[in-house]
Amino acid sequence: MSVHISAKKGEIAKTVLQPGDPLRAKYIADNFLEDVKLVSKTRNIFYFTGLYKGKEISVGASGMGVPSIGIYSYELFTEYDVDTIIRIGTCGGYTTDLNVFDLINVDGAASESTYAKFAWEMDEEIMYHQGKAFDVINETAKELALETKAANIHTSDVFYRKTPEIPAIAEKYNCPAVEMEAFALFANAKHLGKNAASILTVSDIIPTGEEISADQRETALRTMMTLALESGIK
Ligand code: ADE
Repeated sequence: MSVHISAKKGEIAKTVLQPGDPLRAKYIADNFLEDVKLVSKTRNIFYFTGLYKGKEISVGASGMGVPSIGIYSYELFTEYDVDTIIRIGTCGGYTTDLNVFDLINVDGAASESTYAKFAWEMDEEIMYHQGKAFDVINETAKELALETKAANIHTSDVFYRKTPEIPAIAEKYNCPAVEMEAFALFANAKHLGKNAASILTVSDIIPTGEEISADQRETALRTMMTLALESGIK
């Protein structure tokens, strides 16, 4: 048991897929995994371990935002000896160069967040994916004939804001999209020498207000889940 995860040691696989939403973790467990066990439900943040194509993998939520993924990913890496975390989430496009349903394999996550500075004395404004997971995702996407864009993204603490302008940090690091977690995941992995990557599906285009509808969401997210699972078992 760790402070926020009630699984026993050994009940979590070496690779964990981390959506933000606990119900999305459940969806993956119900629809893609075999021999599934619910190993933690503390705070309704479900963690499941099961088999995908015969290989053990876990899936569990990060919750929303930097503090939440900072906690869960740290405990997974340090208390459960997890080697690789692949975040799977949605992001908002800052530009009409992106389309809803586009898949992004995150290269770097730029943020105004002070998480890396105060947790690990890392002063950089951008944290990059760690280890081999990013390359594995690119290769797996090719094998599955899926188009992914490698890009920097903005990890923001802000979902609702006063002004519609693209935040300066997103301009500075050429971030076409925004989400709320990858920076902290990458900072933890960097500090601990672990592997971390993030696959994001563009769920909304901020300047036009276009968004994936509720019934389109399931199919769109299934593609990302398949890519993450196929990458995760390599
Ligand atoms: N995730 C999905 N859409 C988002 C947005 N518009 N801002 C921040 N995170 C998001």
